[in-house]
Amino acid sequence: MSSRNGRGRIRVAVLRGGRSSEHEVSLASAESVLRALDRERYDPVAVEIGRDGRWRELGSAGPEALETGLERERLPVPVASAPAALGAVDVVLPVLHGPFGEDGTVQGLLELADVPYVGAGVAASALCMDKDLLKAVLRDRGISVTRNITLRDGDPVRNEFGYPVFVKPARLGSSVGITKARSEEELVAAVALARRHDDKVLVEEFVAGIEVECGVLGNRRPEASLPGQIVAHGSGAPDWYDYAAKYEEGGMDLIVPPRLPEATIERIQGLSVDSFVATECEGMARVDLFVREDGEVLVNELNTIPGFTSTSVYAKLFEASGLPYAELLDRLIELALERHGRRSKLVY
Ligand SMILES: Nc1ncnc2c1ncn2[C@@H]1O[C@H](COP(=O)(O)OP(=O)(O)OP(=O)(O)O)[C@@H](O)[C@H]1O
Ligand SMILES: [Mg+2]
Repeated sequence: MSSRNGRGRIRVAVLRGGRSSEHEVSLASAESVLRALDRERYDPVAVEIGRDGRWRELGSAGPEALETGLERERLPVPVASAPAALGAVDVVLPVLHGPFGEDGTVQGLLELADVPYVGAGVAASALCMDKDLLKAVLRDRGISVTRNITLRDGDPVRNEFGYPVFVKPARLGSSVGITKARSEEELVAAVALARRHDDKVLVEEFVAGIEVECGVLGNRRPEASLPGQIVAHGSGAPDWYDYAAKYEEGGMDLIVPPRLPEATIERIQGLSVDSFVATECEGMARVDLFVREDGEVLVNELNTIPGFTSTSVYAKLFEASGLPYAELLDRLIELALERHGRRSKLVY
């Protein structure tokens, strides 16, 4: 590779932070990644995007330099300066969640800069970020999803599913802006809350059953991890997987594999890979699904940059499937380089 540094190590830029409400989650994920990247093979540099959208390079930081917050360069105008700064690296690992990171915007910037990057491309990122568009594509491919009504800006509040019902902003994550509404009054408040985060809101049928998640890894021949069952018991809303359950110490238990018949486990893995392929994901995704009481498996959503600490669900699922965290990172970087190499041969 042309720009590898003198010692033959791969220069990896870890993008962290970002403009979305999942900024803090991203910082935790990126710190784990930086700690785990093998310094014999990689020369990592951390690039932090502030909540204000400013980019700053934190240097070829090991975690030590990160802790001191060493700031070498300010990149106040992302679009003008970021490609130049990122052009000097071999691969970018965007560890950004939510809007302006997981939604195709940063991926577009990296395509323009012609730098290999980990994870889904522009179209798949944008599609999976939008729960409404995502379901349209999955439904079209015959993959069962939860039923919903989509409310656009100015649409009156409505619900045809009875109660409880889930209300969500179309394009966010970490359960931010999501409510389980148990009455019409709660529905109105829930839609108002979701509309603070997005001008498109989903009112979704409640699924009674269990919640499972499955990791997928690969480009053209993606493979599923073992699935895991989510058992949420956070302090906020003990009966569903809200923000507190996701990030509080002890807010959830992950059971790998879930206590389900083998055929259901295989169904979960099959649907996860099918959803990954249908949405044209690459590299990685975590697929969130429900298993109804009657055994039917429904896809809830795909996360193209799932929480990525070494103890996040995605990493734990692969660990339980025989792929430790550091090797998972190696694999993702290989996949990014493989895709870039393949695509750079295309004629436009
Ligand atoms: N239709 C539904 N029926 C039952 N529970 C639901 C439903 N939709 C969402 N939930 C609960 O709300 C949680 C968050 O929903 P969802 O995964 O759609 O949001 P998110 O914010 O995109 O999450 P992530 O952090 O995975 O990106 C789910 O994990 C589940 O506990
Ligand atoms: Mg989810």
